[in-house]
Amino acid sequence: MGHESVAAATARRLVSDGRGILAADESSPTIKKRFDSISVESTEENRRDYRQLLFTAGGVEEFISGVILFDETIRQKTEDGVPLPELLDRRGIVPGIKVDRGTGALAFFPSEKVTEGLDGLRARLEEYRNLGARFTKWRAVITILGDAIPSRFCIEANAQALARFAALSQEAGLTPIVEPEVLMDGDHTIDRCEEVTLASLSAVFARLRDHRVALEGILLKPNMVLSGKECPRQAGPAEVAEYTIRTFLRVVPAAVPGIVFLSGGQSPEEATRNLNALNQCGRRPWELSFSFGRALQQPVLAAWRGKAENAAAAQKAFHQRARLNSLARHGKYSPDMETGS
Ligand code: 13P
Repeated sequence: MGHESVAAATARRLVSDGRGILAADESSPTIKKRFDSISVESTEENRRDYRQLLFTAGGVEEFISGVILFDETIRQKTEDGVPLPELLDRRGIVPGIKVDRGTGALAFFPSEKVTEGLDGLRARLEEYRNLGARFTKWRAVITILGDAIPSRFCIEANAQALARFAALSQEAGLTPIVEPEVLMDGDHTIDRCEEVTLASLSAVFARLRDHRVALEGILLKPNMVLSGKECPRQAGPAEVAEYTIRTFLRVVPAAVPGIVFLSGGQSPEEATRNLNALNQCGRRPWELSFSFGRALQQPVLAAWRGKAENAAAAQKAFHQRARLNSLARHGKYSPDMETGS
């Protein structure tokens, strides 16, 4: 198979059979924040133990198709010396890797960010491929602040970087997960989120075309179209689904095999409920799946609290969240399933 078709086969596999992706690629500062919330020290060993707990949870391969790893994690091994990506691969779960290097301030555009990490990326991709990665992720962050932010320029700068990342990934035979995240922080309305999401996705797909990226061999990881977190009027699941599908139909080509949503600060229940509503909306050309970080891991961290004796309960919590999100992929989730865990 040529590189393009390898990327397309991986993309299809990642959204197959009602399964979705676990984003476990928190950078060292971010995982420290998560561990602080449960009073666990962020040491390399604790991070390994926690990730290993997630990756060995019994039965989750039925619901989880892939895991996004962080640079440290892809190099770690179990106590018995099995590299973590190999552990996943043996279970039929595809290992992936976050390859961006986080965001920096966009010079001369106050409050706006641009994602870094293109320098030397070709060599890093080669290395990650040898370590077992089969897909990659790059996250761009778009902030909504009043009428002037995001600027046109910020949207463009981030779309350019996403497209270069995607092209380099496909060149290396890796499937890029293209993540332009419009943040839910702020008091903006759902209409404003729709407007910004549409502008951002339009720029991303224009640049992907310029860079000759094969759309069959990518996955899109966007925000859902939501009311800002502080907006007095919060849209419910049916409205979120209507806005989100309408926006995506306008701008995401049908050649893209799947849309794998980020959770972005929604509670686990909210994220699942919205994903379910999205999958209850009639005809659309792409698989609608998940690539959740917080919405899959919050209950796991709460059950674990850094104690080996809680590992089984934590794995059970992960299995439950993964199962409910998989049901949501079929539009068969209902909130009363939350109690039966
Ligand atoms: P959240 O689901 O917690 O937003 O994380 C997904 C992710 O990978 C962000 O880059």
